[in-house]
Amino acid sequence: MSLTAVVLAAGLGTRMRSPMAKVLHPLLGRPMVRWIVDALQAQGANVVVVVHHHEDQVRAALAHAGVRFARQSAPRGTGDALLSALPELPDGGPVLVTAGDTPLLRPLSVARLLAEHRGQATVAAFEARDPVGYGRMVEGIGIVEEAACTPRQRLIRLVNSGFYVFDAAYLRRRLPTLQPHPPKDEYWLTDLVDAEAKVVSGFLEEEFLGVNDRAALAEARDILSRRINREWAAEGVEFDSLDHAVVEASVRLEPGARVGYGAVLRGTSHVGGDVGEQCVIVDTHIEAGAWVRAGSVCEGAIVRSGAIVGPLARLRPGARVESGAHVGNFCEVKNATIHSGAKVNHLSYVGDANIGAGSNFGAGAITCNYDGVRKHHTEVGAGVFIGTNVALVAPVSVGDGAIVGAGSVVGQDVPADAIAVGRPELKIHPGRAEKLRARKRAAKG
Ligand code: UD1
Ligand code: MG
Repeated sequence: MSLTAVVLAAGLGTRMRSPMAKVLHPLLGRPMVRWIVDALQAQGANVVVVVHHHEDQVRAALAHAGVRFARQSAPRGTGDALLSALPELPDGGPVLVTAGDTPLLRPLSVARLLAEHRGQATVAAFEARDPVGYGRMVEGIGIVEEAACTPRQRLIRLVNSGFYVFDAAYLRRRLPTLQPHPPKDEYWLTDLVDAEAKVVSGFLEEEFLGVNDRAALAEARDILSRRINREWAAEGVEFDSLDHAVVEASVRLEPGARVGYGAVLRGTSHVGGDVGEQCVIVDTHIEAGAWVRAGSVCEGAIVRSGAIVGPLARLRPGARVESGAHVGNFCEVKNATIHSGAKVNHLSYVGDANIGAGSNFGAGAITCNYDGVRKHHTEVGAGVFIGTNVALVAPVSVGDGAIVGAGSVVGQDVPADAIAVGRPELKIHPGRAEKLRARKRAAKG
C-alpha cells in the first residue's frame, strides 16, 4: 500500500531571528527540512510539505527532493495546516504527520511508529526532562495542550512528540470538523488524538528536539554530527574525537581513513587518507595513503596516494597533488598539478601551472600568473630545480632538467638542461657596518 507523509512547515520561525525560512537553515550541509524528508522517504513515503511563510524559498530548496506541496493560506494552527494538505492525501491507508523542524527523527523510529499503528490515530510520545510547552498525554482523554492543562496535568512528563500516524479516511472525516481554540482561534491537530488513539512511548527525547532558535540549531548539529561520526567509525574510519570533527552528510569516507581532532569535511569530499587536526576539507578527494597534515585548507582539490600536504597548506580549486608529491607549510596551490615526487615545500604560490615529476620548487618561489588583467600558465618540466625566491613571470616555461638560481626573475622560457640565473649585483663594503650604525644612533639622538 502506498504511504503518504505530511511535513508541517508553514510556521514562521520568529525565534531564529533570521531572514531565511527556519526549516532551511543548514545542518551538516543539508537544509533542516531535508533531513526529515529523507527520513520519511527512506520508509518509502510520498512526502507532502505544507508551506506558507517563505513559501518560495522552501519550494526552491526542495525542488529536486521529489516532494509535493500544499499551501496553507494563513497559519491557523497545526490542524488547519493538515487540512490544507487534504487534497493531496489518499482516500484510505496510513498517513504520517510530522513537523518540519524536528530534523533528528530517525528512519528507524518512522518505521517503528508505522509498525505500531492501529486504528485511526497513533502518536509517538516521550518522557520530557522538562515538559513545558508540549501537549501532555492524559489517560482517558488523549492530548491536552499546555494552555488547556489543569495544574495536575501540567506535572505529566509524557508528552506529544508531534509525530503521528493517522488513517486517511479518519482525517477526511474529522479534519473539517475541528473547532478553533480561543484566544488565537487556532485549530489544533491534537484534537484528533482522543482517548481511543494508540500512544507509543519510549522514543528518545533527542529525536524530537524542536529547532526553534539558533541554540537548538547548534545542539541539533552536535547530535547529528556525532551520529554521522559514529556511523563512519563503525565502518572503520579512525576519529580522534567523535565530538570534535564535522563530517557533512554528503561526504564519503573509506575504511582506514583518519579524521583528526577538529577537522571539518564538507561537500562532495571523498577521503581515504589521513586528515590531520583542524583541517578544512571541501569538495576534495584525498586518496588512501595520502596525508593532509594539521591546519590545511583544501577546496576542490585532489591529493593522490603517497602525497603529503601541509601542515598549514592551502589547496584551491583545480589543485592536484600527485603520488609522492609534497606541498608544505604556507604554500598555496591553485589550478595546478604538482606531479609525482615534486616538492613545493615552503612559502610558495603555484597558480595555473604544472610542476613536473621530481622537480624541486624552492622556498618562497612564486608563479606570477596574473598580469593585472589575465591569468597565464607556467610550465615547469621534470627534474627541474627552481631556487629560493624565484619569480616565474607567466606565460613562461622551464624545460626538463634545468636549474634556475635563487632570486631570479624568469621572464622568458628556459630550455631543457640550461642554467638560468639573474640577480642584481651584490655590493660589499668591508668594515663599514659599525660606521653606519654610529651614524644612525646619532641621528636618533
Ligand atoms: C505542537 C503540538 C504539541 C506537541 C508539540 C511537539 C499542536 C496544537 N500542538 O505544539 O502537542 O507537544 O507540537 O513539538 O499541534 N505549523 C504549520 N502551520 C500552522 C502552525 C504550525 O505548518 O498554522 C507547523 C510549524 O511550522 C511546525 C509544526 O507545525 O513545524 C508545529 O507547530 P508549532 O507551532 O511548533 O506547535 P507546538 O506549539 O510546538
Ligand atoms: Mg514546536
